[in-house]
Amino acid sequence: MKTNETSLPRVLDGIAIAAEIKAEVGLEVARLKEQGITPGLAVILVGEVPASQIYVRSKVKTCAELGIYSEMLTPPETITTDEMLDLVAELNARDTIDGILIQLPLPAHVDTKRLLEAVSPAKDVDGFHPVNAGRLQSGQPALAPCTPAGIIEILKRSGIAIAGKNAVVVGRSDIVGKPAAMMLLNASATVTVCHSRTVDLSKFTREAEILVAAIGRPGFITAEMVRPGATLIDVGINRVTDAAEVERFFPGDASRAAGFAKRGSTVVGDIEPAAFAVSGAYTPVPGGVGALTIAMLMQNTVTAAKARRGTTAAGA
Ligand code: GUN
Repeated sequence: MKTNETSLPRVLDGIAIAAEIKAEVGLEVARLKEQGITPGLAVILVGEVPASQIYVRSKVKTCAELGIYSEMLTPPETITTDEMLDLVAELNARDTIDGILIQLPLPAHVDTKRLLEAVSPAKDVDGFHPVNAGRLQSGQPALAPCTPAGIIEILKRSGIAIAGKNAVVVGRSDIVGKPAAMMLLNASATVTVCHSRTVDLSKFTREAEILVAAIGRPGFITAEMVRPGATLIDVGINRVTDAAEVERFFPGDASRAAGFAKRGSTVVGDIEPAAFAVSGAYTPVPGGVGALTIAMLMQNTVTAAKARRGTTAAGA
């Protein structure tokens, strides 16, 4: 096979990095247990959203693997905001619970912002509370949102320098884009945040040495929008069900075609696969950023347990 003169892009293996982090967290949990502390995570899952059920089961299973106590609360879809607030208040007050995670999305009648603000910042392992967002932006120790924290771990553990680099984040959500931009800035990158109203997006993305795509649209970032040799971080997890689209993204890829024929869908990130070929390094989908999210949640739970229970405060 003929390749160009430049070397092939590196695949940044999220599964391997997540395994490394989970192993470290497991050791830390064992040390805490020797001091009589078992970190505890409570997960609230409202109603019966299949995707959320899968995520939550996976979080609870990982807790068990690492020796973290976990509790799953599954109120019905009809729960009111006030009832949810009571539930959160009880978990805030309970000493054996170090982390509280409210799985999103919540039913439309529940006031999500009010609930996220009701979680004690000390137990906010999702890093969604405005107090933690403020701490992150002012460079204080904070519980940081798991997906952006995972992005930083991938870069650091892969030896990809951040300081002084042009980093472009496409997407400005409170959960990924904004905190990712803040964390890259804290790591001394020169950061640009682009979004749906950005004019001439390519002008910015083509300057990116680190490009983070968190838009939620399959293959939105094309090869022409990428600076050759850039590091591409693909946060998107988009299910594609149209055969023509699968063939467009993965021309001649027999294994994708077989998977699609079997399941009727395939997963594509926010960056078109052809763009990876011009990159210096990239996170695959699946097996990239997504793999880190639960590992970072476990790490946040242990960080919260240590800070709250007065042992060596992590990050402090
Ligand atoms: N739903 C999808 N991703 C997340 C996440 O990271 N945290 C919570 N709480 N809910 C989610």
